[in-house]
Amino acid sequence: MPFADWKTSVEPKIVGAVNLHSVLSRTPLDFFIMTSSVSGVLGTPGQSNYAAANSYLDSLARHRRAQGDNQTAISLVLPMVLGVGVVAENADLEDALTRKGMYGIDEEHLLQGFEAAVMASSSAAAANFGPPSDHIVVGLDPSKLQRAINSNEAGSGDMDCFWMADTRFSHAAHDIRSSNDSAGGGPGGSGQSILATVKAAAASSPAEAMRAVTEHFVDKLSRMLLLGPEEFEEVDARSIADYGVDSMVGAELRNWIFVEYRMDVPFQQLLGPTLTVPKFAAQVCAAHGVVGEEA
Ligand SMILES: NC(=O)c1ccc[n+]([C@@H]2O[C@H](COP(=O)([O-])OP(=O)(O)OC[C@H]3O[C@@H](n4cnc5c(N)ncnc54)[C@H](OP(=O)(O)O)[C@@H]3O)[C@@H](O)[C@H]2O)c1
Repeated sequence: MPFADWKTSVEPKIVGAVNLHSVLSRTPLDFFIMTSSVSGVLGTPGQSNYAAANSYLDSLARHRRAQGDNQTAISLVLPMVLGVGVVAENADLEDALTRKGMYGIDEEHLLQGFEAAVMASSSAAAANFGPPSDHIVVGLDPSKLQRAINSNEAGSGDMDCFWMADTRFSHAAHDIRSSNDSAGGGPGGSGQSILATVKAAAASSPAEAMRAVTEHFVDKLSRMLLLGPEEFEEVDARSIADYGVDSMVGAELRNWIFVEYRMDVPFQQLLGPTLTVPKFAAQVCAAHGVVGEEA
């Protein structure tokens, strides 16, 4: 990620929040609410700037609360908001988040989140329920995630639920997998695994098998990095790293490769300067015995 992109997302949130924190450090406040995002909790690939900025807000809320009663703070951890705000103005962003298995909330639900944050900050709430938490997470309700994933899979079948491999979400992931298994499909895919597709294609020719992996991998890269098809016209000439795979995306991609292709690719190899998508496809096919090592 270019440093300028990093700063564009990080600066308004971090510098803005720190400024308010500093100038209000001695002022008794009824509430100090920051709008954070589930992107920070999940560590959304391709959005490391935004994820880091929101994690900072979550930590700042914790830091302020740790200072004692004089420094109230709540980080309101929001999912995508539909109808108003930046996601409502960007259909591609909404589409990308939907494919990651997220669900959105409407304006009313958003305002309820603010209300909960204000109420939780009040001294009456503290007297009744103890000190408030430093954060309120809206939009990671396991049953709603499950419904969102299942309904989106039934629609496009084109899902990329990277967070389901994260141990923190293992309970939700287990429920979703069980539900999908009984429905005959699988999370993040359309039913038939890529390895089954590759083996079926290899019956026609090894080249078909490699084409299947190349298309599957390009599809993943384009969704992760929000790149258009024109970026992959010269797929032989560019390394995988050259598409903008940073260490955060690389870690996610490596996990995905492990799940989809049953291969443990060393990080340095994946981000090395010589590994192109077709070379990687040949490695996958060789590892599963559908073409020779030299293909
Ligand atoms: N929308 C969502 O789905 C969603 C989801 C999770 C979290 N959030 C969080 O909720 C907050 C608001 O989101 P939104 O959708 O309402 O965003 P938005 O429509 O893009 O509005 C952002 C606001 O921030 C101001 N701003 C941007 N850069 C600034 C800068 N460098 N200095 C000072 N002000 C700046 C903008 O001012 P101008 O109007 O003057 O440009 C605007 O008022 C953000 O913190 C976002 O991370 C939003």
